[in-house]
Amino acid sequence: MAFGAWRWALGVGRLAALPAFPALSALTKRYPMPLFRFRYMAHAKSGSDRMEKIVSLCKRRGFIFQSSEIYGGLNGCWDYGPLGTELKRNLKDFWWRRTVRERDDVVGIDGSILMNRQVWVASGHENTFTDPMVDCRNCKSRLRADQLTEKNGRKQCPVCGSFDLTEPRAFNLMFKTYVGATEDESAVTYLRPETAQAIFVQFRNILEVSRKKLPFGIAQIGKAFRNEINPRNFTFRSREFEQMELEYFCRPENGLELLEYWLQERLRFYRDIGLPSESLHVHKIPPEECAHYSKGTYDIEFAFPFGIQELEGVAYRTDYDLTQHQQASGKPLDYFDEESKQHFIPHVVEPSAGVDRTMLALICAGYDEEVVIDEKGKSETRTVLRFHPRMAPIKCGVFPLLKNNESLVRRAREIVDQLRREMMVFYDETGAIGRRYRRQDEAGTPFGVTVDFDTIGENGPALRDTVTVRHRDSMEQERIAIKELPAFLSERIR
Ligand code: GAP
Repeated sequence: MAFGAWRWALGVGRLAALPAFPALSALTKRYPMPLFRFRYMAHAKSGSDRMEKIVSLCKRRGFIFQSSEIYGGLNGCWDYGPLGTELKRNLKDFWWRRTVRERDDVVGIDGSILMNRQVWVASGHENTFTDPMVDCRNCKSRLRADQLTEKNGRKQCPVCGSFDLTEPRAFNLMFKTYVGATEDESAVTYLRPETAQAIFVQFRNILEVSRKKLPFGIAQIGKAFRNEINPRNFTFRSREFEQMELEYFCRPENGLELLEYWLQERLRFYRDIGLPSESLHVHKIPPEECAHYSKGTYDIEFAFPFGIQELEGVAYRTDYDLTQHQQASGKPLDYFDEESKQHFIPHVVEPSAGVDRTMLALICAGYDEEVVIDEKGKSETRTVLRFHPRMAPIKCGVFPLLKNNESLVRRAREIVDQLRREMMVFYDETGAIGRRYRRQDEAGTPFGVTVDFDTIGENGPALRDTVTVRHRDSMEQERIAIKELPAFLSERIR
């Protein structure tokens, strides 16, 4: 029994009959394509199976490559290829738009990665930014003690199965480096393990130049580095990654209320980039597990194929950070309230998100396989990344029906030139049109524009200067006038 029929027999597929194309263009007349398609979702794969396919797609299509691959790679480091870079840019741009540009009460900063060592002493990172580490005496693996599984009540090495492990000891996650030509203690500093500290130590400068009143926030996107003991799950736990952090300063009496506000705002953000509500989870950290200075912390989690894991922390950090830096630097980091004429250290609520983790969530949520059956009963598996158009790396593929027809090619090129001022477009003239659609499905491109013989008026004036727009998810097609294309697409990718 064919795979498709087997799936159908089990009744595990989702059946959808696609309607005929609204306009029967030359495309369908000259190059017969099925008018009705029966399709259903390929069955849900096991988590590791699915993850393997996602990793392979990411490499094949140029989303993510191993760093320094030709030298054997560097564990915990990744390079983003052309599609990954666009996806990342769209994600960061949308975060910035939502967090900074669309608000009156948040301003931005772009701090340096290297900072004075005293920043990390005062913040507590130098002494306490550690994970518990054990060594396996048998295979010499270094392991995170809190991630070991137990067998018969004993911790076991996941690499060789041995129980012969050392006692846990604290391992500092910061990458140490030297500033300047002398490699001694006086030159030591660290690659920042979070972007937040630049915001705290620049608090006074920003307050003065922005002339903001409480409550207000300072936002930053940038690289962070952690020497993770066990980088794992593809880009999920990396040694070099990016964060999108907001420190939202407020009066002490508003802290708890703002914690709830930012939790909801951040959930709205994730839904608006296309993560399904049912894949998002909120974990309230029990008070005994919160940092001693925190009056409340939530983790926003996502159902990855390898389990439900943290995407972002939303923490009410009280006045801890500014107080620490004021004490250590001896410089005032307080706020003067003109109404009450009082000085006080503002409290802060911090939504702190990972760029790379959110990208991985977008790819995992979008990945889909679908068995498509044409009216002759021939089946094919279509791999599609169902990105929200706002996140999709390429917004629109533009295809002349034939590459050796000068008029078709010229018209398609004109459309590309017109659209590329507004959005990322991709021109493709090679292979059968169905193949070209499939390639863009895998890249997550939400719209495909085909220039056919109707477009150039070969079949009469009725459809001249119109194109076929094909929708990635439904595979439905509609006829649109070229002059309406920019508005049609812009409205859908905003
Ligand atoms: N300033 C607060 C802070 O850094 P965190 O929970 O340690 O808090 C915030 O990090 C976010 O940064 C995480 O929710 C995650 O999305 C991302 N992140 C942290 N460590 C990471 C790693 N090793 N690889 C990728 N992303 C990471």
